Amino acid sequence: MSAKKRYRSLWVFLHWLMALLVFVTFGIGLASLGKASPNDGKIIPVAIHMILGIAILVIVIFRYILRVLVYNPPRNAKTRSIGIRKLAFLDQLSLYVHPLLYLFSALMAVLGILIAVPADLFTVVFARSGGQLPQDFYIFPTRTWHGTFSLVLMMLIAQHVLVAIFHQFLKGENFIGRMWFPRK
Ligand code: HEM
Repeated sequence: MSAKKRYRSLWVFLHWLMALLVFVTFGIGLASLGKASPNDGKIIPVAIHMILGIAILVIVIFRYILRVLVYNPPRNAKTRSIGIRKLAFLDQLSLYVHPLLYLFSALMAVLGILIAVPADLFTVVFARSGGQLPQDFYIFPTRTWHGTFSLVLMMLIAQHVLVAIFHQFLKGENFIGRMWFPRK
C-alpha cells in the first residue's frame, strides 16, 4: 500500500498500543475490581488500572491532536468514489463510530478519575496513606457511569473489529494495511 494511503508509523504504533491498553484495563476492571472486596488485595489491581487508564487518556488526546493537526490519510478510494450513502451499513456506521471511539475512551478515563478523586484513591493507592479503599465504589454516582460506558466502549470496539474482519477476510481487501507498518 502506498505511503499516502496509510497512517504513519507513530500513528500505527499508538493505535495498537491503545488497543492493547484498553483491553488490559477493561480486563482488570472486570476481572479484579468489579466484584472484589477491599480485603482481597485489591489495591495493586486498582493501581495498575488507574495508571493504564490515565495512560489511555494521554494517548487518546495525543493521537487526536496528531490526526487533526499533523496528518490524516485521505478516506479510502472506495468511500470517495461511490459516496457515503452507498456504503455497506457497517461502513456507514464507522463514520460515527470512529469519533465515538475517541470520545468514549477518553470519557472512561475521565469518569475513572472522577471516582478516584472523591474516593481519595491517589493518596490511598500511590502515597500509601494508610487510608482504606471504599467498601463499595457505587456510593459515587460516576461509578455506575464508568461501568455502563465500559460496555458501550466494548460495543463500539466490536463494530470496529467487525468492519476490519469484513474487509480484510471476506472482501479480500488489504484493509488492515492502512493501520500497519510499511514493509521494508
Ligand atoms: C479507558 C480507560 C478505562 C477502562 C476501559 C476502564 C474499565 C473499567 C471496568 C470494565 C471496570 C469494572 C466495571 C464493572 O464491573 O462494572 C472499572 C472499574 C473501575 N475503574 Fe476503570 N477503566 C478505565 C479508566 C479508569 C481510570 C483512569 C480510573 C482512575 C483513575 C479508573 C478507576 C476505576 C475504579 C475506581 C473502578 C471501580 C472498582 C470497583 O468498583 O471496585 N478507571 N473500570
